Amino acid sequence: MYTSQLIDHFQNPRNAGVISEPDGVGTIGDPECGDFIRIYITVNNNCLSNVTFEACGCPASIATTSVLTELARGKTLKEALNIDEMEVVEALGGLPEAKIHCSNLGTGALNQAIMFYLQSGKKKFNYL
Ligand code: FES
Repeated sequence: MYTSQLIDHFQNPRNAGVISEPDGVGTIGDPECGDFIRIYITVNNNCLSNVTFEACGCPASIATTSVLTELARGKTLKEALNIDEMEVVEALGGLPEAKIHCSNLGTGALNQAIMFYLQSGKKKFNYL
């Protein structure tokens, strides 16, 4: 049912944890299942220098957010905003159809964290 990549990211989540003084934070939950993801970012020179997360969720939501943090680190803000759910799913070698929606939480939280940063007055560069 789950790929070996997904099981690895679920059992060994990358970049799990809190950034104590983040530049942005985003939290997204799914009211139907009760799962939620919170993402923390730091920004340097218009790029994501650090991306971490906390999760209360299913294995698919944890694994997709774990691989998302790897995909997002080092990207410009614009590049990170363009990471979509299917890119995350492909990075895990696929997801069962019924679990595709679980990949929405991490990407939504990342987008929210970036928007938080851009609206917080900490914007140092014109990211577009
Ligand atoms: Fe809720 Fe996966 S079942 S995010």
